[in-house]
Amino acid sequence: MQAIVEQLKSTASRTGATDIRAAFAADSHRFARFHARFDDLLMDFSKCAVNDEILALLERLFEEGGVAEKREEMFSGKAINFTENRAVLHTALRNRSNTPVLVDGKDVMPDVNGVLSAMGRFADGIRSGSLKGATGKAITDVVNIGIGGSDLGPVMATLALAPFHDGPRAHFVSNVDGAHIADTLKLLNAETTLFIVASKTFTTIETMTNAASARKFIADALGEEAVKHHFAAVSTALDKVAAFGIDQDRVFGFWDWVGGRYSIWSAIGLPLMIAIGPDKFGQFLDGAHAMDQHFRQAPVRENLPALLGLIGYYHRNVLDYPSRAILPYDQRLSRFPAYLQQLDMESNGKGVTIDGTPVEGQSGPVVWGEPGTNGQHAFYQLIHQGTSIIPAEFMIAAKGFEPELRHQHELLIANCLAQSAALMKGRTLDEAKAQLLKAGMDEAKANHIAPHRVFTGNRPSITFTYDQLTPFALGRLIALYEHRVFVEGVLFRINSFDQWGVELGKELATGLLPVVQGKQGTDGQDASTAGLVKALIG
Ligand code: F6P
Repeated sequence: MQAIVEQLKSTASRTGATDIRAAFAADSHRFARFHARFDDLLMDFSKCAVNDEILALLERLFEEGGVAEKREEMFSGKAINFTENRAVLHTALRNRSNTPVLVDGKDVMPDVNGVLSAMGRFADGIRSGSLKGATGKAITDVVNIGIGGSDLGPVMATLALAPFHDGPRAHFVSNVDGAHIADTLKLLNAETTLFIVASKTFTTIETMTNAASARKFIADALGEEAVKHHFAAVSTALDKVAAFGIDQDRVFGFWDWVGGRYSIWSAIGLPLMIAIGPDKFGQFLDGAHAMDQHFRQAPVRENLPALLGLIGYYHRNVLDYPSRAILPYDQRLSRFPAYLQQLDMESNGKGVTIDGTPVEGQSGPVVWGEPGTNGQHAFYQLIHQGTSIIPAEFMIAAKGFEPELRHQHELLIANCLAQSAALMKGRTLDEAKAQLLKAGMDEAKANHIAPHRVFTGNRPSITFTYDQLTPFALGRLIALYEHRVFVEGVLFRINSFDQWGVELGKELATGLLPVVQGKQGTDGQDASTAGLVKALIG
């Protein structure tokens, strides 16, 4: 593999692949040659530093890196998350063809379908008002209490699918900062509020603490007996849920073969299902399943997740670009960059290979972003003229949901396309100077000012377009990025499915709590931590 990486480096430099602007000038068919399509989802990667030779090498990387074999191991339920001895089967949660998927010889599909039906009945009950609060009133507000994968997926998808939201209002509380739950509770009437406690492990301190505060809110307002009418839970740890006192028929399970950051397709999606209804939630699963099939079947040159993963790997490990910007031109995808941060960075932010040796080169990049056009007026300056090259990933729908505001959507499209064109083309010193002279500036001043108005160009981007952000399209988009992370993880030779890196901080926080509470001194703490404790609690 390392040999191919070296070949990619030398080929990129010999063929001048990073001069994207020149490649466009030389080839008017570049878009036709370097885009791929899956139904209405189009991926334009012509504005990346690729050419036929580079793509051929990336295809070899896919082959020699064993991505296809690992892909089949994942889909067929092999315990590829070997540090936790678990299968990785979020794809089974949306396996709409219902073919058997075996874990330890047992087909998981009957259980998957059973939970999905139970969620549907519960969601319908809440949406129709047949399941009521303790005082007989219908539920108007649903609060999901969870964090990480038990929050980011539902909150991102509920926002994204706002045009389909016809259920009770949805709220999301994640942070252990009491401000989060306090500000949310202020908006709510206990009689008409349902809390969903969402935690794979049912031990996460943030979620358990917020759940206890929510329980007190209900018990104080309506009495202890009311609690069972105002809570539901989603977890793999059904014994721990029972201890919290949530009625068995309001508990929705999932399984240890679903990673937290891959769990939106499981019962963790319950708040989304209550918001948009079981049918639309089914369409969301359909979209992801369609992408799964595409990822398994399409040849590499037409396979969107494979191409996205290969180009991502090329950007990180061959061209050494340290981050990637996720720039949805879709306000409703405002939490998509945050969602992808967990998906990508918790999966591929690893320094050790599957053999236990240090990663050669780089693993996952920093992932960040904001919706356009807002970002244009904030950080795009750095993407255009800063000293680091940051590959950008744009996404935009052909149609919004506001036909009466079509002129605004046209502006959105124009801005999105202008940004990728500007990043690619840039502006040379001569062009900058000519523009200033044309505007009436004298020669000496134009020479002085022009360098500041130069854009190097050749800054890579990928643009995704799709018809409209429907439940199907969102499911497909998320699954596309999940599989991209998978492809990159296989090529980095890491385990993308554990997250030991979050443990140390949790352990230290547990140890520090008695110190912060003043029950224990700062002996044994490092000098900085001791100084900060003193500054905060005296
Ligand atoms: O701390 C990281 C993490 O384990 C994530 O992987 C997970 O999504 C999140 O915490 C929440 O965990 P849980 O669903 O068990 O509360």
